[in-house]
Amino acid sequence: MYNERMKNVLITGGTEGIGRALADVMAARGYRPVLVARNREKLEQAAAEIKADYQLPAIAVQADLSQPGSAEKLYRKLQELEIRIDILVNNAGTGFCGRSWEIPVADEEAMVMLNDVAMMSLTKLYVRDMTARNEGMVLNIASMAAFQPGPYMAGYYASKAFVLSYSEALAEEVKGTGVHVICYCPGQVDTGFLTKANSRRNITAITARQAAEQAYRALQLKQPVYIGRLFDRASLLIPRGVRKIILARIKRGE
Ligand SMILES: NC(=O)c1ccc[n+]([C@@H]2O[C@H](COP(=O)([O-])OP(=O)(O)OC[C@H]3O[C@@H](n4cnc5c(N)ncnc54)[C@H](OP(=O)(O)O)[C@@H]3O)[C@@H](O)[C@H]2O)c1
Repeated sequence: MYNERMKNVLITGGTEGIGRALADVMAARGYRPVLVARNREKLEQAAAEIKADYQLPAIAVQADLSQPGSAEKLYRKLQELEIRIDILVNNAGTGFCGRSWEIPVADEEAMVMLNDVAMMSLTKLYVRDMTARNEGMVLNIASMAAFQPGPYMAGYYASKAFVLSYSEALAEEVKGTGVHVICYCPGQVDTGFLTKANSRRNITAITARQAAEQAYRALQLKQPVYIGRLFDRASLLIPRGVRKIILARIKRGE
């Protein structure tokens, strides 16, 4: 049962995929999840499941974080509700496959707003509070895509490079404040993201639960950048330009 000393973890995109699995992982460790997503029904369902499974009154907040000003609006709403955020997880993200010029402008503008702008704004707002308290953590979910250009998913890969670069820089800025900024970079994860992105599942995909356990490990280790698998770490030994060409060939089905 929740008590006032329990900590709150804000998880954007906490209703599906990695975010939903992470809500379970955190709730099992006694953190109260504060879930944010667009679909109200899924929010209510996730909160009800967490209540039933962990006896924790999870909080569900509907927000479309691809809208300008939405991060600040969410922050103010949670302040009004007097919900202090101990851990912020910027997890919500979208991506699109195809030739860059064939992907609708509006789709990728909304993607950058969500993957980058909302991530950056929420981080700024909460890190300001956390540094004032000398404690707190931000976990940004990037991707292995952050480490290279991604032909046929160019915008998405670039958006994740932004998440990685911003997180690493901020991790340096908060040194010595008691606050930690961590960037977790998973490889492919078997979630609805792949269908929505029109991307094919490959044999290296891990489950959302496995990714969530890795994300929790990242929080424990407090390293600025965490890559969960040896396979993914080893892939970075291949020169960046070669990885780009291999990816392009795979995407073209060559
Ligand atoms: N799946 C992969 O292979 C993979 C690999 C590496 C990194 N990642 C990253 O991991 C993160 C989570 O991915 P996932 O695979 O778990 O995705 P997912 O299964 O598609 O879940 C996405 C979550 O984000 C929410 N969301 C989407 N658009 C939103 C918006 N505009 N405002 C607020 N919430 C929004 C969704 O709920 P609503 O639709 O109801 O809003 C849902 O809860 C993303 O940042 C993704 O880039 C994924």
